[in-house]
Amino acid sequence: MHLDWSILPRPIIALSPMADMTDSAFCRTVRSLCHPDDQREEGSPHLEIPRRFTPRDDRGLNREDKKRKLILFREMVSAEAVVRGNDKTLTMTDIHEDERPLVQQLFGSNPATMAEAVRILEEAHHPEGFDVNMGCPVYKIVNNFNGAALMREPELATKIIRAMKAATRLPVSIKIRAGWDNPRECIEFSKVVEAAGADLITMHGRTKTQGYSGESDWNLIGEVKRGLSIPLLANGDIHTPPLTLKALDTTGADGVLIARGALGNPWIFSQIENLLDGREPKAVTLEERVRVVKHHLAYHMEQYGERGIVTFRKHLSWYFRGVSGAKPYKERLHTATNKDQVDAILDEMLLHGLMDGLSTRDALHPQATERVFMKK
Ligand SMILES: Cc1cc2nc3c(=O)[nH]c(=O)nc-3n(C[C@H](O)[C@H](O)[C@H](O)COP(=O)(O)O)c2cc1C
Repeated sequence: MHLDWSILPRPIIALSPMADMTDSAFCRTVRSLCHPDDQREEGSPHLEIPRRFTPRDDRGLNREDKKRKLILFREMVSAEAVVRGNDKTLTMTDIHEDERPLVQQLFGSNPATMAEAVRILEEAHHPEGFDVNMGCPVYKIVNNFNGAALMREPELATKIIRAMKAATRLPVSIKIRAGWDNPRECIEFSKVVEAAGADLITMHGRTKTQGYSGESDWNLIGEVKRGLSIPLLANGDIHTPPLTLKALDTTGADGVLIARGALGNPWIFSQIENLLDGREPKAVTLEERVRVVKHHLAYHMEQYGERGIVTFRKHLSWYFRGVSGAKPYKERLHTATNKDQVDAILDEMLLHGLMDGLSTRDALHPQATERVFMKK
């Protein structure tokens, strides 16, 4: 698929890059679930989505096109490591065909290295686009002038974008924060990024100094959007389908980028599509949760081999967060040493869960929906 941010049907919905999380196995899992329902369930109400929420222009798309409309951003990799030919990094950038369209994120601060990394990855894996991390607040990243540190170096940021654009015909997007410590920095910086030739900006509405404290400032994201001609995706604190509508409304953005809301919850994207279509998003049953965890684990072990049983534990924590009565099963899941054991515990959980009424936290419950609306 040829990715062109300027003509992609709105609103654009995308999975945000997350280190150690948005790997190939997770992206395959997300894509496998991003079918919006074709039919409204018998008797379920048609939800009237307020008009102001819907800069929606994909109603003519068929089911397969809708499935491919979701854009997945892979976790960041070091451009230097790519250029050095680091085996682990090159394996991390492998793409399974089922994941596409997929954008590979890079971090780095040397324009020539960034350009070379783009050439290498384009030839090796053909992602549909590249993204540059100019928002990461972590010390070991900003310490080397990477991530959010680039927001303080507009000339260097410009050189990086120009070098990458000259190296590829694929779209290059830039992920920014509100600023380093001053949340107004994004106003100027976004214009620098646009002038340098970037095709899209994604913005998390917190400063680097804030880390994850406070709230993502959706009004500020809206202000940045209004100053740009290139498209912008809003990011930060968009954790549920109703919050997606609210973020689109508040920011006027071309779409949203969802990170933590997708962890242990890869169904969120079809739920959003359903809500945008005026269908009540369906809650996830325990059976469905167990089914998807097993699939995700199989993909994960395909990618990482036997050690995948250990690295998958972080996902298990997310999948069963807030599932009442799940604690004893979670403890056993975290000490299981092979896939058969995990599958057996999951089956047991399902059997007992159905008998004991083990229930999942349901972010879609009307009261929960009300709460999230009230929060902002
Ligand atoms: C575990 C984790 C890893 C992350 N790794 C990356 C990354 O590799 N690149 C990046 O640009 N942002 C990364 N982020 C930031 C997210 O993409 C996103 O901007 C941030 O979490 C705010 O969005 P949210 O409120 O939807 O979670 C990461 C966030 C989390 C929670």
